[in-house]
Amino acid sequence: MIGRFNFLRQIFIALSVATLVFTTSIAGKADDGYRLWLRYDPLPANSVASYRARCRSIVVSGNSPTLNAIRAELANGCAGLLGNPVIITETIESDGAVLVGTADISLEIAGLKWDRQLRALGPEGFIIRSVRVKNHAVTVIASEGEVGALYGAFHFLRLLQTLQPIDGLNIAEKPRLQLRVLNHWDNLDGSIERGYAGRSLWNWQTLPDKIDARLIDYARANASIGVNGATLNNVNADARILSTEYLRKVAAIANVFRPYGIRVYLSARFSGPVEVGGLKTADPLDPQVAAWWKKKADEIYELIPDFGGFLVKANSEGQPGPRTYNRTHTDGANMLAAAVAPHHGVVIWRAFVYDTKPGYDRAGAAYAELQPFDGKFAPNVLLQVKNGPIDFQPREPFHPLFGAMPKTQLMPEFEITQEYLGFSNHLVFLASMWREFFDSDTYANGAGSTVNRIVDGSLYHQKITGIAGVANTGSDRNWTGHHFAQANWFAFGRLAWNPELSPRQIANEWIAMTLTHNPKTAEIITRIMVGSREAAVDYLTPLGLHHLFWGGHHYGPAPWWNTEPREDWNPVYFHRADANGIGFDRTATGSNTVAQYHRRVSDRFANLNTCPEKFLLWFHHVAWQHHMRSGRTLWDQLALHYEQGVDWVRATRKSWDALKDKIDPDRYEAVAKKLSIQERDAIVWRDACLLYFQTFSQRPLPAGVEKAAKSLKEYKAKSLSW
Ligand code: GCU
Repeated sequence: MIGRFNFLRQIFIALSVATLVFTTSIAGKADDGYRLWLRYDPLPANSVASYRARCRSIVVSGNSPTLNAIRAELANGCAGLLGNPVIITETIESDGAVLVGTADISLEIAGLKWDRQLRALGPEGFIIRSVRVKNHAVTVIASEGEVGALYGAFHFLRLLQTLQPIDGLNIAEKPRLQLRVLNHWDNLDGSIERGYAGRSLWNWQTLPDKIDARLIDYARANASIGVNGATLNNVNADARILSTEYLRKVAAIANVFRPYGIRVYLSARFSGPVEVGGLKTADPLDPQVAAWWKKKADEIYELIPDFGGFLVKANSEGQPGPRTYNRTHTDGANMLAAAVAPHHGVVIWRAFVYDTKPGYDRAGAAYAELQPFDGKFAPNVLLQVKNGPIDFQPREPFHPLFGAMPKTQLMPEFEITQEYLGFSNHLVFLASMWREFFDSDTYANGAGSTVNRIVDGSLYHQKITGIAGVANTGSDRNWTGHHFAQANWFAFGRLAWNPELSPRQIANEWIAMTLTHNPKTAEIITRIMVGSREAAVDYLTPLGLHHLFWGGHHYGPAPWWNTEPREDWNPVYFHRADANGIGFDRTATGSNTVAQYHRRVSDRFANLNTCPEKFLLWFHHVAWQHHMRSGRTLWDQLALHYEQGVDWVRATRKSWDALKDKIDPDRYEAVAKKLSIQERDAIVWRDACLLYFQTFSQRPLPAGVEKAAKSLKEYKAKSLSW
């Protein structure tokens, strides 16, 4: 009977896999980008031949939502990539089996006696090894936990998708950072703050009764890159998310994510006890307030036992917080931490806090506000710090809090959505920016104290590590608006897993999985991606300039803007151009916030002769005629950077045009269109900034820089109409 049952089951699975593959390949024809990097179209014939012998059957024993997800993913993936269905079974019967699972569930894995190694890798880590089991050649994907086995399955598929050899495998992986969280700035009305790819993926109107099947694909995509958390709502939070009505909706989403190892977090509005709880105050030291949060946490964990915790934006940009009640950041964070601690939840407190004192330097505000609290946060609090001290600019030096709070668990916050980088119109591969951040040396504990080592816990040995990325996903069919913006989501996950990966390696993986296996085409695209961030800095904010964006939309240039209600929301506050020169003096003759860095760093940045030119105008007010390392004047160099940015976009358009028959027509056309917008915008940035700065420098454009297409007046009029 059992044999017959298994046989029928195999046929059933083979049929359903065939249907799945069929539907995916029809959808694939449209090439609308929906499948992201999990495309599973047939691989080139020569690779298929060698892979088939090693992927004859998928062996997963046991039944759980995660094990079922593993089975479905491998069945779908292998069948699609290899062009024919594979056998799905529960025991090894022949050579070429792919055995997946945990020692707890699979006797065959238990028999390998890898317990010690698996324990060392933890429930999210995995081993992939080519071994002989029952005298058959087998590939084993094993983990201590089911989610680790799922990650291993995706890793194995990635080997196929990127055409790596799969014989003689001996891989052991585990994530370097523990909390790898996407922050969705989604509002309850379905809009997304700084979202450029449609509406929110969470349909609050129809939840919890109706679950959009797309949520499963979202979870698969995240699991494939190891993302294990999602904060569902905007940091500028609506307190209603904490109401029982909404918590039920949140729980429904958490149920979909759970099998994929994704925990749900919520942004908590600090005034929740007043707005949802009907209390008179949200003072963190008021016992009633603490009791309200405790009860709220109990309610949440009843509904969502694996709830991650709260993310809090407090006393920043109009949000309420402990300081509203004359309390400190630690008073607020630790009170919330006590509420979730019994359930092993965390509080992620944001360091994006800046003050309104006239004459202060915004770049130094978060340090001034939070550094004094080092060592005072509860053990389940993490401080989430943006990569740079201002606000996700195209280029910033690393945030001085990294290396300055050895007794606090810092987690970096990246912005995957391109708020200051051309929205979903510009091709900008952010892995390069994040690499630069991780590699920055803080000198906190001597040379080699890189941000990377602070973040991953190897320098200060904090118990909890993590990283957050503000998501760029939305309801657009291709998820991210620009096809290449998918690569930034992918890169975030890959770097959260291993912050040592290079942009080139990540680009290569993504291209092979998403766009092409043709080596020449892939190399052209890799070069485009790897060079794209520097080019964007060139045409947006070269040489350390920052925040030249029009205050509201953050898309087009408005360096002349000076009418925002707050001084530090105006570009003129940041660039400080005048007849003598340009740049923000953050040295001892200015705001001196450079002193927030460790001595070796601050000495280097504060000295005009040693400051890296890429940060020059971030730290110095520099004369227009200042001689740069190239021998050119600052003015000429600045102008040439802007031109270089435009030239890069033009050259990239040409390179892309040459790929016309190498990429499927839909995605080819969509990207070509976006590149034409990018060129238009780069020209506007170059012309508007140079015309405006020229009113101060009074110098002609150097040879090689194109004359502006329009007048400054016309560009000023344009800045609002974006
Ligand atoms: C930026 C962004 C805001 C966001 C804020 C934050 O300033 O423009 O929309 O709310 O960052 O990170 O809190």
